[in-house]
Amino acid sequence: MSSGEAATPLLSVKNVCKRFGGTQASRDLSLDLYPGEVLALAGDNGAGKSTLIKMISGVHQPDSGEILYKGETISRRTPHEVRDLGIETIYQDLALADNLDVGINIFLGRERMKRVLGLPVLDRKFMRTEAIGALKHLGIELDDLSMPVRYLSGGQRQAIAISRAVYWKAKVLIMDEPTAALGVPEQREVKDLIKRMQQEGVAIIFISHNLNDIFEVSDRIFVLERGRKAGERLIENTNEDEVVAMMMGRILDD
Ligand SMILES: Nc1ncnc2c1ncn2[C@@H]1O[C@H](COP(=O)(O)OP(=O)(O)OP(=O)(O)O)[C@@H](O)[C@H]1O
Ligand SMILES: [Mg+2]
Repeated sequence: MSSGEAATPLLSVKNVCKRFGGTQASRDLSLDLYPGEVLALAGDNGAGKSTLIKMISGVHQPDSGEILYKGETISRRTPHEVRDLGIETIYQDLALADNLDVGINIFLGRERMKRVLGLPVLDRKFMRTEAIGALKHLGIELDDLSMPVRYLSGGQRQAIAISRAVYWKAKVLIMDEPTAALGVPEQREVKDLIKRMQQEGVAIIFISHNLNDIFEVSDRIFVLERGRKAGERLIENTNEDEVVAMMMGRILDD
């Protein structure tokens, strides 16, 4: 589904401002996100993309303005609370626990325990079995789920982070530069995963510097320039030249 004026936004950012010292990282930003759409966030280095998504995910609090999820404000929630609402964020550094296996990584922060001789211990078997199911659901095959994730490739790590979002039934998936550190086949895999999530009705915010990727997977693009909104377009109504002009501040809509 693409965005329609009649549909209710799943997520709304309303007039958000954020300053770090002398840097105005977000200047009166507003955007809506609809179920089943992929929204690309574009902009030069330092334009304010990560700041914006960190305000949505609860890492930063906006100085003013608010963020609504299903019509209710979530501006003052912690990252954990935001995640529990169904807004899952995959940061560039991925936030996987390198020394732990795939199963535990799917459950990170929400580990399943069992009791042995009255003492709580991690239920690794349960988590591994669930992880196999979650990976299979996305068409991902890993030979050995018991190895620490640090031995996995960047694409496989991305896949695990995405599986985690699927397993916990994320309604909104935010990805900060998901393909930047990946080889070409792995980039392909992550883009396919994004499309599969979208088909399941998940709304996705996708940050990228790669305009090819943006034009390939997104329905809409929102361009930031030094903290401002430079413009917002349906992907079929724009082209790379226009996006670059917006990124450079040569086109400003409002
Ligand atoms: N925690 C922070 N403390 C101080 N300044 C910050 C902080 N986070 C971001 N900034 C500043 O805010 C501005 C926007 O940064 P942000 O990380 O949002 O940019 P970005 O669009 O994600 O850039 P990139 O493409 O390089 O990741 C930058 O000038 C940056 O230096
Ligand atoms: Mg960033």
